[in-house]
Parts: sequence; structure tokens; C-alpha cells
Amino acid sequence: MTMGLQVAIDGPASAGKSTVAKRVAKKFGYVYCDTGAMYRAVTLAALQQGLSMTDTEKISELAKQIKITFQPAEPEQRVFINGQEVTRDIRLPKVAKNVSAVAAIPTVRQEMTKQQRQIAAEGGIVMDGRDIGTTVLPHAPVKIFMVATAHERARRRYLENKQKGITTTSLEELQRAIELRDQKDSTRKVSPLTQASDAIRLDTTNLTIDEVVAEISKIIKKTEKHL
Ligand code: DC
Repeated sequence: MTMGLQVAIDGPASAGKSTVAKRVAKKFGYVYCDTGAMYRAVTLAALQQGLSMTDTEKISELAKQIKITFQPAEPEQRVFINGQEVTRDIRLPKVAKNVSAVAAIPTVRQEMTKQQRQIAAEGGIVMDGRDIGTTVLPHAPVKIFMVATAHERARRRYLENKQKGITTTSLEELQRAIELRDQKDSTRKVSPLTQASDAIRLDTTNLTIDEVVAEISKIIKKTEKHL
């Protein structure tokens, strides 16, 4: 019986990584780890403590002190900071606005990378983020780099919001925000968003979720056979 592979899924904001990663994990009986949620949790904790987003020392200290844990649930994995549920709060606009700054702090990234490697150590994991294939799990046997046009990603987010009853942000505004985050995530100094040289690029602009899941499943099965 195989222990399961490490599957790294990277890509820009709103490319559908978490939806797909969750489905793939379920299909293979793997653990799913949303690393973006971890950066969001550190950001939320810093905001709750009233820290300045430029106080890199205090935020790094906090990143080491807090315990971030996950619990599988539908439709969304539950996230906890020191046992306190923050699943909803880490998606608040104030967190979204500040998370890029926190994710750019080298010592915060070091700590998150350490924790993520511990989570992935046993294999049987689908981890999604920006630097999983390049930095966190450079030896992962399956690496996917998921992309889609900014327009398509904004459209998906817009429909998702509409389903949740959120209609305050226009499609154009969403697209602008996505482009801004892409730029911030790919130009930061530490672990910028880049495709690992051995990652498989998957453009999901014209694919359904089922098609993307099927494609990644095919890659995992093929890799399993060769290991
Ligand atoms: O995927 P997300 O939107 O929840 O990610 C939140 C932020 O965290 C985003 O600005 C990118 C950053 N991030 C990162 O720098 N490295 C990761 N492995 C995951 C997310």
C-alpha cells in the first residue's frame, strides 16, 4: 500500500487552485493543505493584536507563536488559530488587503515553510499556494502550475460572490484587484510566484472544474506508476 504522493499546486490568485486541490485530495484520500489560509491566519492574528503591518519583527514572532490547524469540512476546510475558529474571518477584506505585505516578510515565510514541510512530510498531501513546487516541496513528484486569464478569474470570483449574495464589487473592480495581487505576488523578493521548471502548466481558462480534476488525476496516476 502506497503512502501517497506529495502534490504541489501553485498559481496566481483565483485560478481555482483550492477548489481543484480539495477535490483531488478527496478523490485520492489525501490531506488538503491551503497554504494561503496560513498566511491569512498570520495576517488576521497581527490585525487582532493591533500590530502595524510594517512591524516585521513582531509579526514574525507572532507567526512562530500561533498554532494554525485545519479540520476537514464541507464545503470549506475549517481553519483555527490556537483552537479558535477563524474560517470566515481570514476571508475578510481587511485580511485580503494586508496579506500580501505579511506574505512578503522573509521570516514569516521561513516559519510557514517549516510548518508546511511538517504537514507534508508523510506524503498523501495536496498542497496549494504560490511557492510549493519551487520552495516548500521542491522534490514533490507532482507539480502543477495552474493559470487562467485575469478576466476569466475575475468572472469566476464574480459568479462565486453572486452565489453568496455579494454584489457590491463589479467585475471590472475584481479584475483590477486580481491583476494587482498577481503583480505583488510575482514581484516580491522572497519566493515570488514563479513556475517550477519541472511543473506542468495547466491553463484552465476554457476548462471546467471536472476537467481540471480529471487532468491532474491522470498525472498523479501516471506518476504513481513510475515511482
Ligand atoms: O491563495 P490566497 O488568496 O488565500 O493567498 C493569500 C495570500 O498569501 C496571497 O497574497 C499570496 C500569499 N501566499 C503566498 O505568498 N504563498 C503561498 N504559498 C500561499 C499564499
